[in-house]
This record gives sequence, structure tokens and C-alpha cells, in this order.
Amino acid sequence: MTRVRAIIALDVPGAAEAVALAERLGDACDFVKVGSELFTAAGPDVVDAVRRRTGSHGSDRDVFLDLKLHDIPNTVRAAARRAAALGARLLTVHTTGGRAMLEAAVEGAGESCGVLAVTVLTSLDGAALGEAWGRTVSDVQGEVVRLSSLARSAGVRGVVCSGFEAEAVRAEHGDALEILVPGVRLAGGGAHDQKRVVTPGAAATAGATYVVIGRTVTQDSDPCAALARVSAELLASPS
Ligand code: C5P
Repeated sequence: MTRVRAIIALDVPGAAEAVALAERLGDACDFVKVGSELFTAAGPDVVDAVRRRTGSHGSDRDVFLDLKLHDIPNTVRAAARRAAALGARLLTVHTTGGRAMLEAAVEGAGESCGVLAVTVLTSLDGAALGEAWGRTVSDVQGEVVRLSSLARSAGVRGVVCSGFEAEAVRAEHGDALEILVPGVRLAGGGAHDQKRVVTPGAAATAGATYVVIGRTVTQDSDPCAALARVSAELLASPS
């Protein structure tokens, strides 16, 4: 059984706050997410800052650089190369950038940094997709599975999808793709502005490889206890 890893979203406006949050969560926080807000505010050095543990214990953290790149292949290849050089373990790009862009991302990221392809943003429903793509989209899950096939054939390590589509992606692709699931909430917690949320256990059961954990931990009155609950739930779930 493979352990499902929890990635803590460091959604704060500066490097000092990001490091403080990661340190506060202690050893259980061994994988962190740097998104476009923090990266834009703090600059590329933030990747190294949150990677290193300041205490004497434990190994460095892994960093997921969630930049959701979408550009011409040459530009994405170069950006992915930079992300790998910064020490990122995972990097996101948009599947809709197309095969050549996905292949360029994989080439640029190399062995040390896995490329994850965002399928359909969970903020988009069928109507919004239809408007953007100029055709009727009645089956969002079908689009997610279809885009996963494109991403897989381009050689990416995995895909990003909601917990509601993870099972279908896992059924179609087996172990050929890692699956990262955001929008995760502990039972009894608020959904915040997210609409389609799943518990850590449900995400694991659906086949997630990684879950992105944000406010359900970071805005809890006891973040360490909340992260411990997440970890326990992931360990207890069949995957
Ligand atoms: O909502 P929450 O605080 O858990 O979000 C954690 C992180 O996951 C945020 O950085 C958000 O941008 C990201 N996210 C995402 N896709 C979603 C939901 C959240 O990438 N569907």
C-alpha cells in the first residue's frame, strides 16, 4: 500500500510567514505547496526557504510548485527547467496547453521534478467549459478522463483533478498516473469558498496519490492537531 501524502498549501503573502507556518506544523509537514501568490510575492528564493528545515531534526521538505503553466512549448520547457533547478519536486502545467507543451514541460523538468497536468479547474462547470471551448460540455468527468489520457501519452507523471473525478481517472489509468486532489476538508469543518470538497479519507479511497491541504488545517484553531487528524485518516484509508 502506498502512503497518500498530504501537501500543505502555504497560502500566505511572504516567505517569512510561509517558513513560520511550515515550522509550526512540525515533522508532519514534509511536503509544502508554493502557489502563484506566494511565488509572485516572495520570488523564486522562497522555494529553497520553505524546503530547508531550520531545526536540527528531519530531512528537508519536498516542494510542490503550483504555477499551472500554460504557454508555448519553448517557454514552458525553460520554466520547468528553472523549477527543477530551484529544487521543486512537483510542478503543474495545464493539459489544455497541448501535447507539445506537455512534452516540453516533461523534458525541461527532467528526472528530479514531476510534471502534474491540471485537467479541468474545479472552478469550471460544464457551462463555463462550453463557453470557453465553443461546444457543449455535458460530461465534465468525461473531459477530465479524456484530458488525463492526453497527459499520460505526453509522458507526465500525473494529473490534478477533484476528488469526485479521481476514481474514474484511477479506473482508466491504473498506476500509470499519479493523482493530486485539492479541495479537501476534514469532516465537520467549513467548506470555505470551495463547492466540491471531499474528506482526506474519501480522496485516498478514490485513488489520490497526494492531497492538497489548505485552510482545513492552516485556519484551524489547532493546526497541528488538524494535520494529525488528516494524517491518521490517510493512513486508515484503503488506497
Ligand atoms: O481551499 P484550500 O485552502 O484547501 O485550498 C488549498 C490550495 O489548493 C489553494 O492553494 C488552492 O489554490 C488550491 N486548490 C486548487 N484547486 C481546487 C481547490 C484548491 O488548486 N479545486
